[in-house]
Amino acid sequence: MTNPQSSCDPLAESRVPLYGPQFQRKSADLYAEMRRAHGPVAPVLLDGDVPAWLVLGYREVQYVVSNPEIFGRDSRRWNAWDRIPPDWPLLPLIGYQPTMMFAEGAEHRRRAEALDDALADVDQFALRAQAQQVADRLIDTFAGAGEADLITQYADGVPLPVVARMIGVPDVETADLVREVNKTHAAGEGANDAYTRVREKVRRLVESKRENPARDVTSRLLAHPATLADEEITEDLLHLMNAGQLPTAYWIGNTLRLMLTDDRFAMTLSGGRQSVGQALNEVLWEDTPTQNFPGRFAVRDLRLGDRQIRKGDLLILGLAAANHDPLVRPDPQTSIGNQAYMSFSYGEHRCPYAAQEIAKVIAEAAIEVLLDRLPDVVLTVPADALTWRPSPLFRGLSALPVKFTPGLVVL
Ligand code: HEM
Repeated sequence: MTNPQSSCDPLAESRVPLYGPQFQRKSADLYAEMRRAHGPVAPVLLDGDVPAWLVLGYREVQYVVSNPEIFGRDSRRWNAWDRIPPDWPLLPLIGYQPTMMFAEGAEHRRRAEALDDALADVDQFALRAQAQQVADRLIDTFAGAGEADLITQYADGVPLPVVARMIGVPDVETADLVREVNKTHAAGEGANDAYTRVREKVRRLVESKRENPARDVTSRLLAHPATLADEEITEDLLHLMNAGQLPTAYWIGNTLRLMLTDDRFAMTLSGGRQSVGQALNEVLWEDTPTQNFPGRFAVRDLRLGDRQIRKGDLLILGLAAANHDPLVRPDPQTSIGNQAYMSFSYGEHRCPYAAQEIAKVIAEAAIEVLLDRLPDVVLTVPADALTWRPSPLFRGLSALPVKFTPGLVVL
């Protein structure tokens, strides 16, 4: 499909491809180069050479997410839909769905408030205990082997079962739901069928909680004064499971990498445990799991960072680039103790505060349990041989191969 504008795109020559192997490099270098060449707002090409803007400056990202009346969230505003084939790889993230994430204005506020309230009431002690239990069970599956890949065998497996329990999926059904959700992320025809089955399971969960409420997020959404329809709750729970899985798994993996490769976090039972919080925080500055987030859509023609943005243009939030912006981090080494990173975004569509806390509890528990159970864990490859998945949107490792003494496993 062709875009009538593409032949007269004045930026055609200078657009930076937002795909390819460069995303397997060190983030800071990549974004510094882009900032030098293009300033705080860069013209980019998404997969399939679809044009968009990447907002690289911290202040510019903050401006975009703080002004929802001019930077909309509903992707049906996009002016490039005529170029998008049905199998476009970014469609699952950008294609409109009737979830709170694509809602705007009063409708978004109503659903976001209900979700915030329902998540804020999650019992943090019970959540931590559940995360520890999931982590323990995963370690049981490889503890005797003396070696493992901490990404596919561990980090990837922690968040979803915990989120499923949190929304009220019964223990006996969790494994099946997790299997089906994982199939929805795999490529191919099976993904659509799996999505239909997951949707049906969540719809039935909502129905059953209406009959028999319990102490879980679904029951709290049903009882909320916002009077959400079952359909809305189903959509938002589906979104919650997706939003919770990938970034949290990558946060766990990226933090384990830091702790295993950097002497400051010498991963020992006593030293490592003390610095888990510090390592989690540093990862959000240096290797945030959500590096480029799509995004916002210009509600009208406007200027941003000296660029002419047209109505309906897509702006990708350059969260990793913003975290490395020298204007807010003149000394990259000393400014990572605070929590002013953009990793959870900002403004009314930011990751809900309660969800941020939940993600932290899950990630912290996963790392602490691993340190307790495998106190002499070490990498089996040199640090510079580790590779990042080639995604321009999320930053996570392909593998984190380790070994440990099976005899030292603490059961
Ligand atoms: C259990 C874990 C998590 C849950 C339940 C969760 C939930 C959500 C939800 C519901 C939204 C949509 C908010 C809205 O549109 O109003 C969201 C957005 C987002 N979340 Fe999370 N999240 C989790 C973990 C994370 C992690 C670990 C990160 C990154 C480190 C992250 C980064 C983001 C970002 C960047 C957005 C988009 C914000 C925007 O559009 O401005 N989330 N999350």
